[in-house]
Amino acid sequence: MTIRFENVWFAYESFAAPGNQPKPQLQDISFEIHAGELVGLAGRSGSGKTTLMQMFNGLLLPERGRVLADGEDINVPDYDLTALRRRLGVVFQFPEMHLFAATVEEEIAFGPQQQHLPSAEIAQRVTLALHQVGLHESFGGRNPFTLSQGEKRRVALAGVLAMQPEMLVLDEPTASLDARGALEVRRLLRDWQAVGKTLVIISHDMDLIAYLCPRLLVLGEGRLIYDGPTASLWEMAGPNSAQDMLRQAGLAWPRYQRLRQILSSRGISWQGIPILKDGQDP
Ligand SMILES: Nc1ncnc2c1ncn2[C@@H]1O[C@H](COP(=O)(O)OP(=O)(O)OP(=O)(O)O)[C@@H](O)[C@H]1O
Ligand SMILES: [Mg+2]
Repeated sequence: MTIRFENVWFAYESFAAPGNQPKPQLQDISFEIHAGELVGLAGRSGSGKTTLMQMFNGLLLPERGRVLADGEDINVPDYDLTALRRRLGVVFQFPEMHLFAATVEEEIAFGPQQQHLPSAEIAQRVTLALHQVGLHESFGGRNPFTLSQGEKRRVALAGVLAMQPEMLVLDEPTASLDARGALEVRRLLRDWQAVGKTLVIISHDMDLIAYLCPRLLVLGEGRLIYDGPTASLWEMAGPNSAQDMLRQAGLAWPRYQRLRQILSSRGISWQGIPILKDGQDP
C-alpha cells in the first residue's frame, strides 16, 4: 500500500481567540511511503512526530491538504477508515501500558477476535505472532503482568502483528528498554521488513535509524526538513552540512559516524575497522 501526504497542515488550536494566531503543529508536509519501505521519522521532542503519526490512519484530520492511501483521500466522508486501520496499524509509545488480558494468548487474540475471524485462524495467528516476536509458545499461558518490560513490549507488538497489517507506524518502539530489549525489538523490526511489511519508525534515536532505515524523514518545528537516503547524510559536509541540520533538529549524530569522523580527523583510516553486526555483543 502507498501512503501519500499532500501539503498537510495541522493545528491543535484551530479555535484560538481572534488575534491569537496559533502556530500550526504541522506545516505543508508532503511525502510518499511505498509498499515494502522502511522509513525513519526523526525530530526533537515536540516537533510533531506523534501528531503526524495519527494522520496516517485518520485519527487526526488535516486542516489543509490531503492524506491518500493507494491514491484515495482517507478523510472524505464515505471512506472506509475501519478497513484502512486493519491494513495500516499505528503503534503508540509504550504499547505495553495498554495490556489488559489475563493471559498473553488472550491478549494477542483480541485484535483478530474483533475482526470476527474463525477460532482456528485466530489460534494460528497467535502462534505465528508469538514466533515473530521471538517468544516461546510457553509464554501463551503467562499473565502479561508477570513479564519483563521487554517481554511485555513484545507481547503488545505481537497483538498488533496478529492483525496482519501491511503497514505499521511505530512511535519510539525501543524507548526505555535496556540494551538487550532494544536489540530484540530492533531485530524484530528488521525481520518484519524482510517479510514484506512496510514500516515507518518514529524515533530520536539516530543509532536505531542509522542502523535500520535506508530512508529518513526529519521534522523540524512541524516542517519536513529532510527526506532522502539516510546514508547520503553522512557524506554531506560544509557549512550547511547534514550535521548542522540534525543538530538544529535536536538530533544526535550516530555514534558510529562520530567515531568515523574522529578517526578520519586524526588521519586514522576507519575503513578496516569492523562494524559490529546486529546481534553481536559489543
Ligand atoms: N492534544 C493536544 N492538544 C494541544 N497540543 C498538543 C496536543 N498534542 C500535542 N500537542 C502539541 O503539539 C506539538 C507536537 O507534539 P507531538 O506530540 O506531535 O510531538 P513529538 O514530536 O511526538 O514529541 P516527543 O518526541 O516528545 O514525543 C507539541 O508542542 C505539543 O505540545
Ligand atoms: Mg511523540
